[in-house]
Amino acid sequence: MTEYSVQLQQGNRDAKAICTRLSKPSVVMHWLIAFIVIFSIALGYYMTLNDRYDLYSLHKAIGVLLLPLAAFRIAWRIRKGFPTPCTRMEKGKLWVAKGAHSLLLLCTLVMPISGFISSAAGGYGVPLFGISLIDAVPQDMRPINQLLATTAHTTHIFAGYFITGLLILHIAAAGWHHFVIKDRTLQRMLGR
Ligand code: HEM
Ligand code: HEM
Repeated sequence: MTEYSVQLQQGNRDAKAICTRLSKPSVVMHWLIAFIVIFSIALGYYMTLNDRYDLYSLHKAIGVLLLPLAAFRIAWRIRKGFPTPCTRMEKGKLWVAKGAHSLLLLCTLVMPISGFISSAAGGYGVPLFGISLIDAVPQDMRPINQLLATTAHTTHIFAGYFITGLLILHIAAAGWHHFVIKDRTLQRMLGR
């Protein structure tokens, strides 16, 4: 049983009419994590492009906070399953949507983990709002582990490009549902 009380019925011609509401935890987790991810992406590009090293600690701390939230959300999704679509879709499209959502969820783990390993193995440390989770080491001792630091850094950068592209498609798909198909996909994610 998914989190929907009513499932889409095979052969129902008015599929839009039985699109049911999403549970509160689904909606709250979606928007809380969406806000953190979008803010972290914007801050990540801004600080690297403008050499704003003073912002690195904030970027790291916010990203670290995302990790437990993302892990909880993924466990929740695995238990409850993905939402049943508001408009009936062909199998192929359904798999594309599920695949894209799964990749977005995966990126919410890969981004903070790769960022964390890159900073820790590079010797730069990981601060969390005044608490040092991993201490930075003096410059002549960096990196602590070159291979790990470089692999994690490259992963962080490419996963960053990947999630940025995927998010543009995700937001475009939400707009397509709302303005073109005119179903309740966006409305129910807004808790309505
Ligand atoms: C302005 C930004 C965003 C909008 C307008 C938006 C919109 C939506 C909508 C309408 C749905 C419902 C799809 C359905 O019912 O099948 C959805 C689901 C989803 N969105 Fe977003 N989204 C945004 C940002 C994000 C971000 C930043 C992430 C990154 C992790 C994300 C990840 C997901 C996932 C994984 C789902 C699948 C359902 C779930 O697990 O909650 N979204 N989004
Ligand atoms: C929400 C999770 C995160 C997202 C979406 C994110 C995203 C980004 C992006 C887009 C960049 C710019 C990459 C580029 O130059 O092309 C970046 C850079 C960076 N991120 Fe993250 N990040 C996240 C979490 C973390 C965490 C948890 C850490 C460390 C604990 C971290 C450490 C760094 C560092 C050190 C850089 C600068 C890399 C450089 O100078 O080349 N990030 N991040």
